[in-house]
Amino acid sequence: MNDFEKEVIERVSANGSNVDMIAAGLQFMRATTTTKYSYNFAWQGRPIIQYPQDMVAMQEIIWQIKPDLIIETGIAHGGSLIFSATMLALLDMADAIESGTMLDPKNSKRKVLGLDIDIRQHNREAIEAHPMASRIQMIQGSSIAPEVIAQVRLVASDYQRILVCLDSNHTHEHVLAELQAYAPLTSAGSYCVVFDTIVEDMPAEMFPDRPWGPGNNPKTAVWEFIKCHPEFEIDKSIDNKLMITVAPDGYLKRQC
Ligand SMILES: C[S@@+](CC[C@H](N)C(=O)[O-])C[C@H]1O[C@@H](n2cnc3c(N)ncnc32)[C@H](O)[C@@H]1O
Repeated sequence: MNDFEKEVIERVSANGSNVDMIAAGLQFMRATTTTKYSYNFAWQGRPIIQYPQDMVAMQEIIWQIKPDLIIETGIAHGGSLIFSATMLALLDMADAIESGTMLDPKNSKRKVLGLDIDIRQHNREAIEAHPMASRIQMIQGSSIAPEVIAQVRLVASDYQRILVCLDSNHTHEHVLAELQAYAPLTSAGSYCVVFDTIVEDMPAEMFPDRPWGPGNNPKTAVWEFIKCHPEFEIDKSIDNKLMITVAPDGYLKRQC
């Protein structure tokens, strides 16, 4: 590790006890949740319902892990699928440059597998027409339905380095079931990222028309899951780096 990298680690670690930054981050999250800030971005032309900070964290993770399969629950408009496919395309390109071989974009083994209970026709068409489409497979159905879980396991059995992202229904019960189904597919050293854990840190009145809220959300599911799964650890260094994130305590690293 060089001096620059050591300084980054020290700064990030100090952020974790910087009360001003923590309060400012939380205030930003509160002000921007009600105004639907995360709905204003697009990745390569598709709406992506994410904060830019989390997209950068995902880019760092994908570059570090170099997954050959990314499993995502929650497709919506497809922006996060396109984002992941783009990152996989860049990994393919880097591999081709390093090995001095020709890049064949239609023949990549790397894949994003997206699940959604309701893939709207216009979203499906736009995703399938996108230049990144050859790296994307979609399954329609509830992410916790046994037949969907079985299909995902079958696809995953063909891959070695797997990254998992959970971003569908945000109730405790649903996310816990997703964690039980998909976290075990995460490769050692890789991540299972649970989005919208931030709900736990928001005022209850912020989610009047949602079944989730403080006490019943992805973060409470993560806490319950890791009690019985010591192979997963919350990577606090990502929270401390971002300070603004929808996934505090949601970046789970599989240790073994
Ligand atoms: C927050 S959006 C996903 C955003 C997307 N990951 C992105 O970054 O642009 C949540 C999606 O989860 C889907 N969803 C809700 N319940 C689900 C379930 N039981 N199984 C699978 N998907 C579900 C919804 O249809 C919706 O498209």
